[in-house]
Amino acid sequence: MRQAYKDLDRLWRRGREFLGCEYAILGGAMSWVSERHLVAAISNAGGFGVLASGSMPPHLLEAEIAATKALTDKPFGVNLITMHPELDALIDVCGAAKIGHVVLAGGLPTAAAIKRIKDFGAKVVCFAPALVLAKKLVRAGADALVIEGAEAGGHIGPVSTSVLAQEILPTMAPQVPVFVAGGIGRGEAMLSYLEMGASGVQLGTRFVCAHECIAHPKFKQAFIRASARDAVTSVQIDPQFPVIPVRAIANAGTDRFMEVQREVIEKFHRGEVDQKSAQLEIEHFWAGALRRAVIDGDVENGSLMAGQSVGMVTSEQSVAAILEEVVGQALDAIEARSPAAASPESSQGVA
Ligand SMILES: Cc1cc2nc3c(=O)[nH]c(=O)nc-3n(C[C@H](O)[C@H](O)[C@H](O)COP(=O)(O)O)c2cc1C
Repeated sequence: MRQAYKDLDRLWRRGREFLGCEYAILGGAMSWVSERHLVAAISNAGGFGVLASGSMPPHLLEAEIAATKALTDKPFGVNLITMHPELDALIDVCGAAKIGHVVLAGGLPTAAAIKRIKDFGAKVVCFAPALVLAKKLVRAGADALVIEGAEAGGHIGPVSTSVLAQEILPTMAPQVPVFVAGGIGRGEAMLSYLEMGASGVQLGTRFVCAHECIAHPKFKQAFIRASARDAVTSVQIDPQFPVIPVRAIANAGTDRFMEVQREVIEKFHRGEVDQKSAQLEIEHFWAGALRRAVIDGDVENGSLMAGQSVGMVTSEQSVAAILEEVVGQALDAIEARSPAAASPESSQGVA
């Protein structure tokens, strides 16, 4: 076995043991994208797949978990959105299916939700957007944290991954496993976060163009064509009408969103709509837009949620090839520091 593999294993063993897989790499849940096929493929290839439940009702989540289990006997997690109106019922579905890890996303979870998950024996993973909240979540029972920077695809916070890592890892990594997400496209970046104390990483954008991913060919093509600077944050034009920041590849939809905001805000100033209705009209603009892009292939008007690492997505690959590439880059980086440690089989795969 390569010495570098042992070094990497020392860095992420805690994460691997927490997740129960070969590589401490989570496939970040992506609504519409992270369904049974991609999730099972990630877990089968040694990573840790996470099902995106998005706005699914409980019976659909139950069916998706069962379908995923039919494709893999490896562990995988379920991502639940904390503001889902049926959160308790979704947690119960995870409990009945003996899901080992539940990732809570989309706002701070209540201590009651965390407890409900722990009561059936699963590990709870929470997103921590700042150090003070990371401490609060661990006090409330979170078993592990994900810190996701603004480089990521989808809904994002304002702080970059590198700054969040510096802010949170020194304090929290000694307490619980912390997984770093956002903008990680290559193994060298993964390695640097592991060396800062992370137990593993979470990748989303890199997995979208996996062969096993069911995203529409046009959605994948948009990823392959895009460079980092194309993955931009949604722009809010008036502080009176907040827009949740979402990172996506710019298209006709993003231009139209600016026009709609302008039109609606003008209607508000003319007294034709009240503030609440105007805010709702703005919020509804993107309703169903991710599905339209991922499933229907409407890459002009749908939402092309993608992180800045989209520039490193240059072809369709199998999940196994993506994981081997990222892990291989980390191993090569370790070996490049101490050439003497490199063994003859260093260019023949990861183990
Ligand atoms: C198309 C897309 C959809 C996403 N949907 C979700 C989601 O439903 N729930 C969630 O917690 N994160 C979601 N994310 C974030 C990912 O889980 C992951 O944290 C992120 O993609 C990591 O950053 P990266 O894209 O730079 O790799 C989404 C990301 C993308 C690109």
